[in-house]
Amino acid sequence: MRMILLGPPGAGKGTQAKMLKEKFRIPQISTGDILRKAVADNSELGQEAKTYMDGGRLVPDDIVIELIRERIKEDDCDSGFILDGFPRTIVQAEKLSETLETMGLDIDTVIDFEVDSQELITRLTGRSTCPGCGAMFHGTTRPPKQSGVCDFCGAKLYQRPDDNRETIRKRLEVYENETAPLKDFYRQRGKLKSVQGRGTVEEIFSQVLRLVN
Ligand code: AP5
Repeated sequence: MRMILLGPPGAGKGTQAKMLKEKFRIPQISTGDILRKAVADNSELGQEAKTYMDGGRLVPDDIVIELIRERIKEDDCDSGFILDGFPRTIVQAEKLSETLETMGLDIDTVIDFEVDSQELITRLTGRSTCPGCGAMFHGTTRPPKQSGVCDFCGAKLYQRPDDNRETIRKRLEVYENETAPLKDFYRQRGKLKSVQGRGTVEEIFSQVLRLVN
């Protein structure tokens, strides 16, 4: 199964991708996570990406397209993959189609998470993330058992530098201008399925499973 999770920042793509990964035993490929690791490693890629990410802007297409091209050719993607946060522009979507075509493959489903912007802001300003295992928490809706500490691996939780109000506003604007047009792109190809992203994480997961099964 090859699927794309589409939706604005804070829509729950990462949360649902982790659950889908466990359920279907296929990798979650998050361009955001790959780029954040590059920033943490202070690699050449990370140094270039950091300025864009901290400002809430998209990293240039050629960089992320190359990352994905290499990643989906790895052996663990043979049975499928979940793309979380890619593609984000029409150019990225076109290049993804081209790459998959050369491999004799195609995307099966694109799940679009619809969440209003006030809820997105509440989710992102309250989010904390584990640098160790990638688990995500929220101050009110999903608090860790011990404040500031990951329930699963005990690492100290952190707040992403782009989860501040000003950068969130910019990310939402970039989403509307550059990423939302992908809904039509995939609708025209008969791939788009929409989920109402309000509700508990488990309720949304059930909706997603109904759509992919
Ligand atoms: P990326 O890491 O992809 O961030 P994003 O798209 O902004 O999405 P988020 O990770 O913020 O949100 P999410 O939808 O995964 O929500 P989550 O599950 O965490 O990208 C970061 C940056 O990297 C970009 O700005 C860009 O610079 C760069 N980049 C990445 N990919 C790129 C690309 N392809 N091209 C160019 N640049 C790229 O949930 C959010 C919070 O809500 C959590 O606290 C969670 O616990 C909570 N929550 C989840 N579900 C629910 C629910 N149902 N009810 C209540 N709370 C919930």
